[in-house]
Amino acid sequence: MSSIYVDETSGSDTTGTGSQEAPYQTLGLAVYSQPSASYLIRKDAQGEYAEPTQSALKKAKKTAEGIEKKRKKQLELEERERQAKGDEKEKREKLLEESKKIVLTEDESLPKATKSKLLDLGKYRTQRVRVFGWVHRLRQQKDIIFIVLRDGTGYLQAVLSGRVAQTYSALTLTLESSVELVGTLQEVPEGKTAPGGHELVVDYWSVVGAAPGGDDAFTNRLNEKSDPSIQADLRHLVLRGETASSVLRLRANMLTAFRSALTSHNLLEVTPPCLVQTQVEGGATLFKLDYYGQPAFLTQSSQLYLETCLPSLGDVFCVQESFRAENSHTRRHLSEYTHLEAELAFINFDDLMNHIEDIICKTVDTLLADPISAGLIKQLNPKFEPPTRPFMRMSYVDAIAWLNEHKIQHPAEDEQGNVIKVDEKGNPTTDGSGTVLMVDHKVGDDIAEAAERLMTDEIGKPIFLHGFPAELKAFYMKKVATQPGYEGPVFTESCDLLMPNVGEIVGGSMRIPDQEELLAAYKREGIDPEPYYWFTDQRKYGTCEHGGYGLGVERFLAWLANRYTVRECSLYPRWPSRATP
Ligand code: 4AD
Repeated sequence: MSSIYVDETSGSDTTGTGSQEAPYQTLGLAVYSQPSASYLIRKDAQGEYAEPTQSALKKAKKTAEGIEKKRKKQLELEERERQAKGDEKEKREKLLEESKKIVLTEDESLPKATKSKLLDLGKYRTQRVRVFGWVHRLRQQKDIIFIVLRDGTGYLQAVLSGRVAQTYSALTLTLESSVELVGTLQEVPEGKTAPGGHELVVDYWSVVGAAPGGDDAFTNRLNEKSDPSIQADLRHLVLRGETASSVLRLRANMLTAFRSALTSHNLLEVTPPCLVQTQVEGGATLFKLDYYGQPAFLTQSSQLYLETCLPSLGDVFCVQESFRAENSHTRRHLSEYTHLEAELAFINFDDLMNHIEDIICKTVDTLLADPISAGLIKQLNPKFEPPTRPFMRMSYVDAIAWLNEHKIQHPAEDEQGNVIKVDEKGNPTTDGSGTVLMVDHKVGDDIAEAAERLMTDEIGKPIFLHGFPAELKAFYMKKVATQPGYEGPVFTESCDLLMPNVGEIVGGSMRIPDQEELLAAYKREGIDPEPYYWFTDQRKYGTCEHGGYGLGVERFLAWLANRYTVRECSLYPRWPSRATP
C-alpha cells in the first residue's frame, strides 16, 4: 500500500489528495481522510519525507476524531433544520387548509354599518362603519392582523383578530390589495397613536382585488432604492406613496385656492384651446404637428387668447397645459406644464405687479387657514414661512450691478453663441481644450438660470425682477416710455417673479396696446401677421392698456412643498424623451 503524503508548507487540506503530487497540509486531516494508511511527512519542500513520530501520530488521531465529531454535529443540525422547515411548511399548509373552512358572513343582528370615506370617519366614532380602500401597510402577528388602509382621502388603522384573522384571505393577504372592511370605530387607547385618533375593530371583511405576492409583490417592483428611471416608469405606483400623494393633494388644494383668489378679484375663468397656429414665446420651443394637412402647434401660452377675451368678459384667467419643446433636463423644466395665466384690462405696470403679489399671498393665506392644506405643507415643508409683503422689486439694470458686485459671472460667448474657452495664458482655444472664460455681466446680457438662482438664493426671499431689455423678450411686450432723443437700450414693462430654491415662477408684462407698434413688432421678429389677425383686431376695435402673466403651477408647488424638482409636482411629468406612463 502506497503512503499518504503531508507537506506542512505547500500541501493543502482542501485540494490535496494525499498523493506525492498533491499532499495534505496537516497530518490530522490525512489521518481523518485515510485512517489506516502509512504516512510520510515533511516540514517544507526542501526537507526529506519521513515517517511521523508516535506522538505526532497520536496527536493527529485526536485531531481526526475532533473533525469527525464536528461533521456529525453539523449533519445532525442540518437534519433538524430540514425537519423544522418541513414541519413549519406542513403546519402552514394545514393552517391554510383549515382556514378555507372558515367562511365569514356579515352578522345581520349587529347595528347597520354606514359607508364612509376615511376622511369623514370622525363623525362615526363608536359606530359601525363600512370602508373600502387599499392595504397600505400590513403587520401579521400570531393571532392578530394590523392593516393601515388607504382610500385617497386618508388612512385608517384596522385591527383583525379572532375568526376574521383566521380566514384564507387573512392568512394570504398582501400589500396593495383592495379590501372592504366593516367594524366598529373606536378611539385609540391612551398613549397610542393612529391616523385620525381612531381604529377600526373589524367584524367582517372581504378582499375586493388581491395584489400578487412573491416575485411580483408590490415591494419587489418598487421601493425607495429603485433607480430613478424605474421610478419614472412606475410613476403610477409611486403615486400610491405617502409623499407623492400628499404633493398632489396639496396641488389640488392650491389650484382651488388660486381660483378663489382670482375670482375674488373678479377674474373669470376661460378655457382656451391647446391646438394653435400661432407662437407666443418664440418659434424654437414649439411642438409642431400636422393638423388636417395644415401646420399647427401645441400651445406655449394662452396669453393671446386671454387678451381677446378682455372686451367681452373683462379680466380673465385660465389653468391650461402649456408645451415647451426645450431640450432642458433641469429640475425646473417640463415639456408639458400646467400654466396659470391671467390678463387684466385698464391697468398699469405697477397695478400688474401688485395684483400678482396679492394673488400669491391670498393663495398662501387660504392654504394656511385650511387645516388639511396647512397639514400637508407642514408635512412636506416643515420650515415653510409665508412671504412677507411687499415683495422686493429690483430692476434688470440693478440686477446686473448686483451680480457684478457679488462676483457672479457668466461664460463668455462668441458672436455665434459658442462658449469661449481659453488656455493657461488666457488666449482663446479653437480645439475645445482649456477652461471656460468667465466674464462680468453687462446690460443687454440674458441673466442665465445659474446666475439667477445664485442671486435668488442669496437674497432668500421673493424678488420681482423687472424692466428687461426688449431684445431679450417676446414680441408683444410694451416698451418703457422714453424721452424724445433718448438713444439708450430699449427696456420693456416686463417682470419675472423669482423664488428661493426654484427661481422664476411667474413671467408677466404689459402688452403693446397700439396696432401700428404691434405690426412693427411682428416685422422685427420675422412673424407673418396674417395668422395673428384676431390678436391684432384686439388693438383695432377699442384698444386698452392691459397686461398679464403666466405662473408655472409645478414651479410654484415646488417652492411651496419644498420639492427638489418640478417633476415631483406633476401627475405624469413629461420631459425630453419621457411621455410614459
Ligand atoms: O415666462 P413665460 O414663458 O411666459 C409666458 O408664457 C407668458 N406668455 C405668460 C403670460 O404672460 N400669460 O412662462 C411663464 C411661466 C414661467 O415663469 C414658469 O413658471 C413657467 O411658466 N414655465 C415653465 N414651467 C415648467 N417647465 C417649463 N419648461 C416652463 N416654461 C415656463
